[in-house]
Amino acid sequence: MEKKYTAQEISTLKAYAAKHICPHYMANADLNRGPKIYVKSEGNYIYDIEGNRYLDSFASILTTICGHNNMDIINAICEQIKILDFFPNFGDHYCLPMIELSKKLEKIAPEGLTAYFYVNSGSEANETAIKAARSYHVENGEPSRYKVIHRRGSYHGTTIAATAVCGLPWFNEKYQPMSNPGMLEAPPADCNHCELGFSDCKTCGLACLKELERVIVENDPKTISAMIMDPLPGSNSGYPVAPEAYMKGVRELCDRYGILLIFDEIQCGFGKSCKWFVAQHYGVSPDLLTTSKALTNGYIPLGVCMMQQKIYDKFRTGNSEFRSGSTFGGHNVACVAAIATIDYIEKNDLLRKSQKISDYINFKIRELQKVHPMILRVSGMGMMFSIELTAKKGEKKSFAVPGSVGAFINRYIYDNEHMIIRNNCYKAGDIIVFSPALTFTEANVDEMMKGLDAGLTAAEKEFPVEP
Ligand SMILES: Cc1ncc(COP(=O)(O)O)c(C=O)c1O
Repeated sequence: MEKKYTAQEISTLKAYAAKHICPHYMANADLNRGPKIYVKSEGNYIYDIEGNRYLDSFASILTTICGHNNMDIINAICEQIKILDFFPNFGDHYCLPMIELSKKLEKIAPEGLTAYFYVNSGSEANETAIKAARSYHVENGEPSRYKVIHRRGSYHGTTIAATAVCGLPWFNEKYQPMSNPGMLEAPPADCNHCELGFSDCKTCGLACLKELERVIVENDPKTISAMIMDPLPGSNSGYPVAPEAYMKGVRELCDRYGILLIFDEIQCGFGKSCKWFVAQHYGVSPDLLTTSKALTNGYIPLGVCMMQQKIYDKFRTGNSEFRSGSTFGGHNVACVAAIATIDYIEKNDLLRKSQKISDYINFKIRELQKVHPMILRVSGMGMMFSIELTAKKGEKKSFAVPGSVGAFINRYIYDNEHMIIRNNCYKAGDIIVFSPALTFTEANVDEMMKGLDAGLTAAEKEFPVEP
């Protein structure tokens, strides 16, 4: 029997949470309005403690891509915990699920990524990639290489090295100078908001790539260890899709200057682009690739740093080693959840089916765009979408208080349409983002579009768009 909470119980629980539990990336203004508590999930929906049902249009921060309450994955977890609950993967000890998962990853990963280091989160996976790159250079007789290039606009996680390579000042400005020694910044390939002032990526001559080379050359290439980048920048910066020539050019520059290329596919990887990895859309393989979030359908924390075999082989020669590890990294119950997630996606042909849903979403958004002057443009890839808003029809114009209109829409949709999306403010522009599960149906999409339509209609009344 499902427990029904009284108004008194709910208010006591909320007061306790707000007073005693610091939420991740807290927002005092939201918390002061009163926290939200969730108690149940079902398919593509989530329920709060008051009994309201919400359409989960952001797949629980891009994790539950096979839907909530997926019994195939849940049963696999339950079986494994009965067989071997836990034994740490330390030194020369391995648990069987980790071996089985690695064999599966080898089949779906971009070319050459055949060695794996398992961790508990995306941040740890990036931390590992940064350490592995540095360690590789030390073992390879190039100890001068320690600097890491990252791109403005990208988020890479919450641990201190991952924070240091965040290209969004909000995430790291309070941790400087702790968080930044040796970090170099380069521009993203965001053609809709080109920071170098070009309006067309066909005629700019890939200026951002030239700028990247300038950063490398001016900072003594022999001191640079790695470049970390998300091949599809995330929800904070609205999923801008880079030209193929840029991606191939980055690979070529890294090769030319002996820099290891790290792809952070924690958010964009693992099926959400309707291929297993975004790298595969470009035919580019990085030296290291990190992924997490959807890896276990969000059920058990797990992350992985994949490496080209030559990197791991370097740690396996003579007295070399990779000095990093954690108690729970690669927990065998988490590995089984990841195996079951891959099996579920393959068995149900979800990469192909979700491409059809993605096309349907794209078609429906274009229809919304015809009736909502507030929609400036839509970007994204696969099941990751961003809608950029404008204060003036047909051209980019920020709102009087950047961020406020996206926040209004998000709140309106949550309260009135019972639907979960995200909003952000990028380059003084408001964006709303969503990334539904690969299991979304056309009916779910219609419901999501109805919610977006209502939110945009309310926003256009409250913040009229200049004609
Ligand atoms: C691109 C990217 N990198 C790294 C991370 C950090 O992952 P985690 O929150 O699992 O530590 C995230 C999380 O949102 C992410 O989107």
